[in-house]
Amino acid sequence: MEVPRHVAIIMDGNGRWAAARGKPRYRGHQVGAESARDVIRRAGELSIEVLTLFTLSEDNLSRSHEEISSIMALLNRYLVKERDELRRNNVRLQTIGNLASLPPHIQRLLEETRLFLQGGDGLILNVALNYLGRSEITHACRNIAQRIERGELHSRDISSRLIDDSLQTAGLPDPDLLIRTGGEQRVSNFLLWQLAYTEFYFTDEMWPQFREGSFMRAIHAYQRRERRYGLERAASASRGACAL
Ligand code: IPE
Ligand code: MG
Repeated sequence: MEVPRHVAIIMDGNGRWAAARGKPRYRGHQVGAESARDVIRRAGELSIEVLTLFTLSEDNLSRSHEEISSIMALLNRYLVKERDELRRNNVRLQTIGNLASLPPHIQRLLEETRLFLQGGDGLILNVALNYLGRSEITHACRNIAQRIERGELHSRDISSRLIDDSLQTAGLPDPDLLIRTGGEQRVSNFLLWQLAYTEFYFTDEMWPQFREGSFMRAIHAYQRRERRYGLERAASASRGACAL
C-alpha cells in the first residue's frame, strides 16, 4: 500500500504532557522537539515527499512572553543542532506563515538554514510558523485582486488552480494525511484550503509521547482508508473529480 506523499501534523499537547508530570510547559515543548526529530527522520526513510509541521499558530503568539521566548529559543537550538543531520538526510526546509513578525534573529536563522539545506532532494520539511489558514487565504485573495487591478488577470481567470498557486504551499501536493495529537478533534485554522480531500487521524497521545511507533500506526491507519474523492468506489481519481 502506498505511503502518503504529504503528511501534515498538528503537534498538540505539550503543555498538558508537562503539567501531568508536574513540569513547566517549556519542558513539554523540549520533549516535543524530540518527537519532531524522530518523525522527521522516519518520514524521510519512508520517502514521504512533504512533512508539514504546525509549529506555531498566529493565535499562539498571544501566549505569555515567557512561553513564546522559550519556544523561539528551542527552535533556534533545534535548527543549529540538527541541521547537519538534516543535510545528511537530504531534507529541504520550507516555511509557511507570517515570518515577518517573528524575532529577526529567528528569521535570519530560518533563511540561513533554508540555504544550507537547499541542495537536498529528499523530504521537504515545511514548517508552519505564525501561521493561520484564513490569513493565508486572505493574503492569496488580496494578491489575486491586485493582479486584476494591474490588468494582469481577469476575474474569469480565477480558478481552483490559480488559488492553489497563490497560497504559500504553491507547488506542494495537498496533504494526504493530517495527524492531530493531544485528543482534540478539530482543524484549528490549519491548511483550510489544502485539506479538502485529506484523511484525518486523531490520537489522544500527547505530542511529546508521539514517537516513531505512533507515527507508523498513523501511517498504517491511513493505508487502510479507502479514498473515494466523491466517487462510489475507491479510485485513483484526481482531486475534485466529482462534485461531492
Ligand atoms: C502544542 O502544545 C505546541 C504549541 C502550540 C507550540 P500546546 O502548548 O498547545 O499544549 P497543550 O494543548 O496546552 O497541552
Ligand atoms: Mg494546545
